[in-house]
Amino acid sequence: MTTTSPLGFGIIGTGMIAGYHAQAISRTAGARLVGVADCVATSARSFAEKHGVKFATAEVATLVARSDIQVICITTPSGAHLEPALAAIAAGKHVIIEKPLEITTARADRIIEAAAKAGVLLAPIFQSRFGAGAQRVKAAVAAGRLGRLVLASAYVKWHRDASYYTGWKGTLAIDGGGAVINQSVHGLDLLQWFAGLPEEVFACKTRRVHTGIEAEDTACAVFRYPGGALGGFEATTAAWPGWARRIELCGEHGSIVLEDDHIARWDFRTAHPEDAAIRTAANDSALGAGAGAANTISSEGHLRQIGDLVTTIRTGRPLAVDGREARKAVALVNAIYASAERGVPVKL
Ligand SMILES: NC(=O)c1ccc[n+]([C@@H]2O[C@H](COP(=O)([O-])OP(=O)(O)OC[C@H]3O[C@@H](n4cnc5c(N)ncnc54)[C@H](O)[C@@H]3O)[C@@H](O)[C@H]2O)c1
Repeated sequence: MTTTSPLGFGIIGTGMIAGYHAQAISRTAGARLVGVADCVATSARSFAEKHGVKFATAEVATLVARSDIQVICITTPSGAHLEPALAAIAAGKHVIIEKPLEITTARADRIIEAAAKAGVLLAPIFQSRFGAGAQRVKAAVAAGRLGRLVLASAYVKWHRDASYYTGWKGTLAIDGGGAVINQSVHGLDLLQWFAGLPEEVFACKTRRVHTGIEAEDTACAVFRYPGGALGGFEATTAAWPGWARRIELCGEHGSIVLEDDHIARWDFRTAHPEDAAIRTAANDSALGAGAGAANTISSEGHLRQIGDLVTTIRTGRPLAVDGREARKAVALVNAIYASAERGVPVKL
């Protein structure tokens, strides 16, 4: 393969989010979807038909052995990312892995180590980082515009109806939890991307409405950051109708509120020339949100992130989100659960 020949993609796990990957691959220059695998053969076949893909199999090993595939998207349930990821990495493929990277840091570490040893790229999905609003917030924090951080908080008050919690969703073994690990992990990742990882977490969790699931549908936490700032976190899938995800960063010289990818507050003691345009910028709505239902996100974020991986393969430029970055949200989620289960503050 020359550096300019199209990159062949495969998908393992042909459920809901796999469709977003297929759409994003089809819209990415220099990428083509070559084959798919799902442990349910009929699911792999119908997905392949729908997306015009010639190869479908129930055998992960058969898909990853194909020499015309260079990148595999792992879109299996969260606690079933590790095994197909290891198979793809062992076959020398670059891997894109859905969020969360895995459900525990121990399992995430096995993927990170295997990819590093094999010399392949590991691109965990955190598509919210690719929004124009999120990027502006990151740049402002990195430039020191907020001064000393005082409070850094995330609120993810979403709605999922009862029909969402069928199969593996909300199970401890395969989802790894509920509203925190599955829905709020994007917000936790953004929060830690902007403010850094807290050093201590004190959390509680409960089931308010989805009482039939094993895991929590509601949780809250307080965070203590290494620099001394504090923060709050509220998460649910039980609140109707579901509001935009909200990240609040308050500092001694400025404060920002990001609602989904829309900058709702952009207040700074010292004005910069770009501030007025940022305050009135349209929401990067192409990214979608997910507050009311899982399928209300769009494939735009996946398109941007898959494009980032393709650029890295072509140019050697670092990935925007790599395994070590994606591990941080898993570590934070694990600490929230550990604190809520033990009823004590937990250090990360
Ligand atoms: N980035 C986002 O915004 C976003 C949104 C939704 C879901 N997700 C993530 O995507 C992943 C999949 O979620 P989903 O909603 O598409 O799930 P899903 O249940 O709709 O699909 C999962 C598919 O994987 C298959 N599968 C399970 N184990 C397998 C295995 N070992 N080998 C091969 N196939 C296997 C199942 O048969 C199913 O078809 C999860 O990790 C989830 O957290 C991400």
